[in-house]
Amino acid sequence: LVLILDYGSQYTHLITRRIRTLSIFSLCISGTSSLKSITDLNPSVIILSGGPHSVHSPDAPSFPDGFVEYVEKNGVFVLGICYGLQLIVQKMGGEVAIGEKQEYGRMVIEVVKDYGGGGLFMGRKVGDKQVVWMSHGDEAVRLPVGFEVVARSEQGAVAAVANPGRRFYGLQYHPEVTHSPEGMDLLRHFFFDICGITAGWKMEDVMEEEIKVIKGMVGPDDHVICALSGGVDSTVAATLVHKAIGDRLHCIFVDNGLLRYKEQERVMGTFERDLHLPVTCVDASVQFLSELKGVTDPEKKRKIIGKEFISIFDAFAHELEQKLGRKPTYLVQGTLYPDVIESCPPPGSGRTHSHTIKSHHNVGGLPKDMKLKLIEPLKLLFKDEVRELGRILDVPVSFLKRHPFPGPGLAVRIPGDVTQGNALDILRQVDEIFIQAIKDAGIYDVIWQAFAVFLPIKTTGVQGDQRTHSNAVALRAVTSQDGMTADWYYFEHKFLDDVSRKICNSVRGVNRVCLDITSKPPSTIEWE
Ligand code: XMP
Repeated sequence: LVLILDYGSQYTHLITRRIRTLSIFSLCISGTSSLKSITDLNPSVIILSGGPHSVHSPDAPSFPDGFVEYVEKNGVFVLGICYGLQLIVQKMGGEVAIGEKQEYGRMVIEVVKDYGGGGLFMGRKVGDKQVVWMSHGDEAVRLPVGFEVVARSEQGAVAAVANPGRRFYGLQYHPEVTHSPEGMDLLRHFFFDICGITAGWKMEDVMEEEIKVIKGMVGPDDHVICALSGGVDSTVAATLVHKAIGDRLHCIFVDNGLLRYKEQERVMGTFERDLHLPVTCVDASVQFLSELKGVTDPEKKRKIIGKEFISIFDAFAHELEQKLGRKPTYLVQGTLYPDVIESCPPPGSGRTHSHTIKSHHNVGGLPKDMKLKLIEPLKLLFKDEVRELGRILDVPVSFLKRHPFPGPGLAVRIPGDVTQGNALDILRQVDEIFIQAIKDAGIYDVIWQAFAVFLPIKTTGVQGDQRTHSNAVALRAVTSQDGMTADWYYFEHKFLDDVSRKICNSVRGVNRVCLDITSKPPSTIEWE
């Protein structure tokens, strides 16, 4: 295990993922975790991440007392990156100065010690140069006893240090970002040649291990429930649990009347035909839509949808209890690793550590008296790893690549009352034309999310020699890494022209098509 102690760098998730791509298991925990949390994980390598703090600030986060003694006694290798390097220097008897030469962005560094071809920069000789990505203000000016400078920046600042005898290493730059083109080579060499780690972390093993854990956790008489949203995470989580405990897993899929064109058929087809999952499909569209009638406030709409979902879920659990003679004990959730990582918040962010631990409920919360224990089999995985796990579990690739779809469904794509006129019907048709065109153009996979929005205004048009007074729709497509920030997607004009014509020619009630050209921020991805 490579353990990353996080000090708040924006690249901490990235380095965790990069290491996993080397088939090495890596985990990230808060940089201020207790010594026991660290020793319990028994890591062979520890990375101290970068972070926005200065080691001189009074609230500078640090590793716990006894850390250095623990790693030395147990032969653990330590690599400090940026702030992590400065922490090593400061804590082990060196000196870090508030930087006069601040270095941000692309820099050239030069190897100044090569350990006869070994060391951090294997195969590189003294005088060899490479481009790296720096981002620091403070700088190490005096190293602790036994440490040597291995590389310097063009400005003369310390860029890499090593104390091979004590297994401590440090990089002032970020090897994990693509702007450090030789960074991955360095990490590969560090883990495999210096630390002697053997690659062997495979998704097949993760799957077997998770199945073993679930089997051990769920007793022979226990029953498990899962709400399937039609999204990748809950589907993969349910498929994995089903593989472990078979039909003691009971899934529910709710048609809330806010789904996309033929969504229920498509999703149920995948669950039943491809995955053989036992799913109860509840058509609650009438119930949802009657509760939503006349409601225009976006937050109210969301709350109503959440509440209705809970009542249906409650009824499902109750029915199961009647049928099985006992209450279901566990609930499966598709929580992912980014949702559970506890990171060191940047100073001044107003966040405390506990605030940053999120528990994600796609279903909008659950009844408090249910007292269900959680099974979260994906909680150590990133989204792309969940997709890989899904592939191994034979979830169809087309399903795994589906764009995210929000829990409140089309309700957040119809500003105002979702039951107005035939807004839902119009929106479904427009959305289907748009998405199909995107698929036909071969650009579905490069877009994070694309959808149509029903605009609750009527504008004048002329169709078939007649004036019309019909609705306008908007098209939205964004690229993103994680949905937190997003850029609007640049379509070719011809594509937009074709889609616009097709929509106005085939969807009754639409005479105008607009394109949403805002990024996030300032907009959000959804319209509500
Ligand atoms: P926004 O609109 O906040 O959306 O920029 C970011 C991402 O989250 C999705 N989203 C939701 N997903 N329940 C969900 O499961 C919700 O209530 C919800 N609201 C937004 C959105 O589709 C986008 O991918």
